[in-house]
Amino acid sequence: MVSEADAVNGKRSARFARLAERDINKETYVTPWAEAGLSVTNSPYDPAPSLRIEDGRITEMDGKPLADFDALDAFIAAHSLDLNVAEEAMATPSLTIARMLVDINVEGAQVRRLIDGCTPAKLVDIIRHMNVLEMMMGLAKMRVRRTPANQAHVTNWAENPALLAADAAEASLRGFSEIETTVRVARAAPLNALSILVGSQTGRGGVLTQCAVEESLGLRLAMKGLTTYAETLSVYGTERAFVDGDDTPWSKGFLNAAYASRGVKVRFTSGTGSEALMGHAEQRSMLYLEARCLLVTRGAGSQGVQNGSISCIALPEALPGGVQTVLAENLLASMLGLEVASGNDALASHSAIRKTAKLMLQFIPGTDFIFSGYSAVPKRDNMFGGGNFDAEDFDDYNVLQRDMQIDGGLRPISETEAVTIRRRGAQAIQAVYAVCGMPAITDEEVEAAAYAHSSEDMPPRALVNDLQAADAFLKSEHTLFTVIKAIREAGFTDIAQNLLTMAKQRVAGDYLQPSAIFDRDFNVQSGINDTNDYAGPGTGYRLSGERWQEVQNIPQAKSPHDFIQDRQGAPLKRLVELEQARVGTQPEVVIAVGPAFGTGLVKTIEGLDHNAVLEAILTGIASEGMIARLIKVYHTADCGAIGHVAATLSGSGIGIGIQSRGTTIIQKKGLPRLSNLELFPQSPSLTLAHYEQIGRNAACYAKGMMPTPVAVKVDNTARLRLIVKTALLHRHEIEHINTAQPPVEMVFDWEPA
Ligand code: 5AD
Ligand code: CA
Repeated sequence: MVSEADAVNGKRSARFARLAERDINKETYVTPWAEAGLSVTNSPYDPAPSLRIEDGRITEMDGKPLADFDALDAFIAAHSLDLNVAEEAMATPSLTIARMLVDINVEGAQVRRLIDGCTPAKLVDIIRHMNVLEMMMGLAKMRVRRTPANQAHVTNWAENPALLAADAAEASLRGFSEIETTVRVARAAPLNALSILVGSQTGRGGVLTQCAVEESLGLRLAMKGLTTYAETLSVYGTERAFVDGDDTPWSKGFLNAAYASRGVKVRFTSGTGSEALMGHAEQRSMLYLEARCLLVTRGAGSQGVQNGSISCIALPEALPGGVQTVLAENLLASMLGLEVASGNDALASHSAIRKTAKLMLQFIPGTDFIFSGYSAVPKRDNMFGGGNFDAEDFDDYNVLQRDMQIDGGLRPISETEAVTIRRRGAQAIQAVYAVCGMPAITDEEVEAAAYAHSSEDMPPRALVNDLQAADAFLKSEHTLFTVIKAIREAGFTDIAQNLLTMAKQRVAGDYLQPSAIFDRDFNVQSGINDTNDYAGPGTGYRLSGERWQEVQNIPQAKSPHDFIQDRQGAPLKRLVELEQARVGTQPEVVIAVGPAFGTGLVKTIEGLDHNAVLEAILTGIASEGMIARLIKVYHTADCGAIGHVAATLSGSGIGIGIQSRGTTIIQKKGLPRLSNLELFPQSPSLTLAHYEQIGRNAACYAKGMMPTPVAVKVDNTARLRLIVKTALLHRHEIEHINTAQPPVEMVFDWEPA
């Protein structure tokens, strides 16, 4: 930046200086470097697709002979491809498959049949033919579950259990289908898992929960009944990265089975950028490595994946095409029939414009979970490293759903509903702590949690004691059933029932179906019974009926009648109508008002009393020693037309026209209708001082002088704020029109100031 400025004679452009301060310029951008793994879809070292099958065994894949296979190649070759269609799939031109993905006449299942036989390089080759829009269309069709959903992050810096339960309760009520917590301090895991479990079942039954921690601990929490899904089984696209994570594709497959055998839903985690970050990208592009991850995921038997770069998001975003590639990996996963929790979780940008734009790539087509962790807490309480969308953005998100008629998985709730559910969640965990002999949660903490925004609103709590209790709880015989009993005895039978139903569901295992969530009545909604059947207009999921009503009904929305009620009142007593208006003959200024002025409406759009407005204008005119005459126009509500009438009837030829909402014009007889001396289209910016100056200027024109036009502040947001009110007030004025009635003379009972 400095050298640029020097190049312009050492002087800084004010424009560029301002641009440099913008959020978008706080980001890091880098040019591609394939050797370091810094390329998104197109490394010169990426292999070309190939597949050789001999005696029912893969002997060459993506240019590599069997003898050179690394662990991932071996795993993919053994477990991930459908060899019955592999030769057909590999022989089908990639462009043909890419076109099938966007062709509404080709069913998703038809494409998926071929995809099942594709190697990693082939998958990337297909995607390379598609642009963002086509990928979004592909995702809308290939997503596994018909109904999109959303996942929340609930954590807090203080590891406060009452706050965790309250935030989880609110998140459930807001519509999240899954809630994930993690820890700031590792030992807090069991109680954090417990707190969001209890909180989530308070908000509504059937919300799945998990705690993202080290894998063996994660499995123990699940076995104790404290979690119902596991998501952070990380896989990587190169063998060296896997080894660094103390894992192999086989060990992940084993862990997956361990969870599933306990009735716990599993999703793996992968995403562009992790290998480059670990220094083991092996010169391959991010998307190619992700294709390998996804085939490992499928081969290991996981029903789904959390991908979309996840914690690495800032790395692909630093590269050209990075945001597009993140969509590409979501699409790839859905093509493979995997449930996709599509990222948008970690803080990805300083810029609100950029973060929202990025979201649209998943929000518009819809994914199984649009966020793989919407931060349902403030940024500083988000122990996943800050959310890309946070609790502060709830209303923004609700409005985006309402704007586009898109189901993003959330719904607006009222403050009362929120506080009530938060209090119950905190009370329920309070009861559990009491029964299990854990450090007491006080009534003060419960109340604070009910009303809190962040952990800063909570009274201090001794973390050390909670950590000891967490250790003891993990070692103890206490399980989910101890918890259920405690909650039932405390009188929260509905919450106890929800928890018990969750426990039963783990035995039934129906929610181990692909892409399964529970609806509000504990019915499984999965890729089996809620199959995505998108096939163009009129098909697939549509936001409609009750759910659309729910999304529309944001508490901020007012009834149109509310906008005009306070503009109506008793007609102004000081304004009396006389006979039909005549043409003046003496020097004067005629003020013409609209049909509803002082009767149907008694205030301007910003609430200035019509009496006061008239007083101000009359004061202005009088201060220049000019006579004023007042008339009311009935045949039109148009400001220009009202001003035209005023000028025509004025003895001096100078008139002022005012609509009831306050829009004003100074007009001169003989000027074309759409011309004027001064126009004040922004009525909200007009103060009484302005109206007085308008009167003074009009009087000056009447005296043949040329005054300086009245200086009005330009308020760019006025239209934004007031356009609904403007439309409704104008409609109200139009209702008072009587085209048969000529302008009438009026008297205004006024004492000059
Ligand atoms: N690839 C693999 N695992 C990832 N995680 C986050 N991003 C990625 C990625 N791109 C994992 C972390 C942690 C959890 C939050 O998800 O390792 O376990
Ligand atoms: Ca997640």
